[in-house]
Amino acid sequence: MNTTKSVPVITIDGPSGSGKGTISRLLARELGFHFLDSGALYRLLAYAADRHGIDLADCDSLVRLSGDLDIRFPADGEQVLLDGEPVGDRIRTEAAGAGASRVAALPEVRRALLQQQRNFRREPGLVADGRDMGTVVFPDARLKVFLTASSEERARRRFNQLKEKNINSGYEAILQEIQARDARDSQRSVAPLTPAEDAVVLDTSGQTIDATFQCVRDLLKKRLNP
Ligand code: C5P
Repeated sequence: MNTTKSVPVITIDGPSGSGKGTISRLLARELGFHFLDSGALYRLLAYAADRHGIDLADCDSLVRLSGDLDIRFPADGEQVLLDGEPVGDRIRTEAAGAGASRVAALPEVRRALLQQQRNFRREPGLVADGRDMGTVVFPDARLKVFLTASSEERARRRFNQLKEKNINSGYEAILQEIQARDARDSQRSVAPLTPAEDAVVLDTSGQTIDATFQCVRDLLKKRLNP
């Protein structure tokens, strides 16, 4: 199997609620590429730490734990498997997102997860969704997209998403959590949330998923046939 630099990677970075998860999945499916949900790795680590009674500031234990995790993303959907067990929506709550953002701020943890993320680069290609896919993990990606939207719009989308999953959270609480997470993700010293210099930045405020997907497709077409 070819795991070298010749395997094309498309990175979709941005803050939570920008639409990057949906767009990345659609793109991976359309292209028949593998898919990396890097946020799920940080969420799973925080979730597993909680289960093992590990403090989210205990860097050494978190690094050890990250090496022991058996994580799989089945191709058929969103069900992530941890040690063979589906974790379902337990890693999708706001609390799990906040835990992920705390462990993700630790440089040693990011280093420990770097190779695991690069191992997803396999033929015929990879769509990688995250915060630092274009800046740190796959700096040589074929196309880098950075999706963004206002925090209010992202909170609204999150609110509706959670409601569909029967997870009850108030809009105001979600907005505050999103703003706190943005601040933590943007201000951290290592791999802060920022577009790569060669990324195309798309503001998805007021735009449907279909319209954003079409924009990304057009970008890809131009990139592949300049
Ligand atoms: O994308 P998602 O909301 O699942 O990410 C959860 C958290 O994981 C983010 O708030 C961020 O702190 C962290 N993360 C990261 N780098 C990535 C993906 C996620 O720091 N590539």
